[in-house]
Amino acid sequence: MQVRTIEVLQSELHKVKNRGEIIGLVPTMGALHDGHLALVNHAFESCDCVVVSIFVNPTQFNNASDLNHYPRDVERDVELLQKNKANTIIFTPSVEEIYKESVKAEEFDFGSITQFMEGEFRQGHFNGVGTIIKHLFEIVQPHKAFFGEKDYQQLRLIKKLVQITKQPVEVIGSPTYRETSGLAKSSRNKRLNKKQLETATLIYQALTFAKDNFNQLSIAEIKHQVIQLFEQEHQLELEYFEIASTHDLVPTETKKAEVTYRAFIAAVINEVRLIDNMALN
Ligand code: PAF
Repeated sequence: MQVRTIEVLQSELHKVKNRGEIIGLVPTMGALHDGHLALVNHAFESCDCVVVSIFVNPTQFNNASDLNHYPRDVERDVELLQKNKANTIIFTPSVEEIYKESVKAEEFDFGSITQFMEGEFRQGHFNGVGTIIKHLFEIVQPHKAFFGEKDYQQLRLIKKLVQITKQPVEVIGSPTYRETSGLAKSSRNKRLNKKQLETATLIYQALTFAKDNFNQLSIAEIKHQVIQLFEQEHQLELEYFEIASTHDLVPTETKKAEVTYRAFIAAVINEVRLIDNMALN
């Protein structure tokens, strides 16, 4: 079923909770693809009822053009979710329903995990994400919430958010869902043509290069070679490529034993900004 207001949603969830059922939440901004459905199906493995929110959150966009161009197709999304599984509650609120008269982000201190990469290149973005997720957790009060690892900093931020707000939600990460080419599934891929989608696979190739060579090459050498790869591809502009420890997500140039690392990348093609990341060791 589709619900648009907090009041109707909460009255439905009241019935679900009275039956002693486990509620999962999958927050999305719509324009759903197979990666979202995999996330929803992951949620159904351990939840009886799954709320999928579809809400293009204005406070997390630091760029008005990105917000305006963000793909939207709620009717198709609802149809897709309804076909996928019964017991899905699709929550499609308006901006006013969520933010009332003040469309503003709250300020959080997430520490180093949001300082670099996305935090550096998208000022204010993570406060917007923290704000909407805090609201959604308050509204839905789910037992569990599911987020894709493609947005790895976001996933970590939400784990930190529930520590800060003391909201009793278990935050669960789901592996990145990829095209057969390796390109991470993203709603933004809808804005690219076939040739651009092919070009964008360089993002995945850069990450696998880093993974395959992580033991043999220094971080500086890996970064140098990735930058060179992108210099040969003029359609795709590299915004950053960093390697950071999974502990603090601070980019580093030195490898230490016993520390796990991930590579993070953002690149722009045809004004569409794509991100991805990969565990290296
Ligand atoms: O990853 C997203 O689509 C969004 O950042 C989220 C988590 C739905 C919050 O608006």
